[in-house]
Amino acid sequence: MRSSFGLICAAALMGIAPGCQAADTASYKDAETGFTFSQYNAQYTIGRSITYRIAVPSPVPANSAYDVVLQVVAPNEVAWAGLAWGGSMIANPLTVAWSNSPNVVVSSRYATQHAAPSAYADASYELFKPGTHVNSTHWQYTVKCTGCTSYNTATGSRRILNPSGANRLAFAYSGTRPANPSSNVSSISVHDVYNYWSHDFSIAGNPDFSSLMVRNLGHA
Ligand code: HEM
Repeated sequence: MRSSFGLICAAALMGIAPGCQAADTASYKDAETGFTFSQYNAQYTIGRSITYRIAVPSPVPANSAYDVVLQVVAPNEVAWAGLAWGGSMIANPLTVAWSNSPNVVVSSRYATQHAAPSAYADASYELFKPGTHVNSTHWQYTVKCTGCTSYNTATGSRRILNPSGANRLAFAYSGTRPANPSSNVSSISVHDVYNYWSHDFSIAGNPDFSSLMVRNLGHA
């Protein structure tokens, strides 16, 4: 199945299919890392979701690039999970990750067409030890990203995601394992499902972002 869940959500709204969730974010305080996240449960099949949590510094000076903390929780059947920061597959930073038990591999990607995305050097990632686990049901990672919230658009202009409002994001899910799971440049096969949502960054602010970074990474 290679479809958008939008159709199913439309069906749910019309009362002919169960299980569609409102495109909505909620606040989540993570006791393990101490960050406050704005979270969205991205449904990839009826009743099963990948959780995307985003934490940002607060305040962010106007028109400035800023780091972000991303935490993703996925059931073990999720072979790779991707986040498109600009809300589409093409011309924006893609964060792709998969379980390589007991580790999680995070891969920075970018696509110029609807084909396998390449490695992307303009975003860099630092995985947290706290908040990154694999257990018998789920895999989870928490990562700092520099370069995820600003990028050059397809037309060449610089875009910065709104640190204090809603941003349209997209996710992609695949049930097919990467060819070489221990490598972050492994080839991956096409998604089974993708969809979009509006992620509210206004409830993702952390005034103590730097000190939480020190607590989790050992440096700001
Ligand atoms: C081998 C890897 C990939 C291939 C071959 C691939 C291919 C495609 C193709 C052919 C489409 C067009 C629509 C369709 O036919 O369903 C599409 C759409 C899409 N893909 Fe991928 N894709 C890959 C990886 C990714 C990743 C890693 C992400 C996100 C992190 C992603 C996000 C999307 C989204 C959001 C769409 C909807 C159209 C758009 O927003 O551009 N894809 N992809």
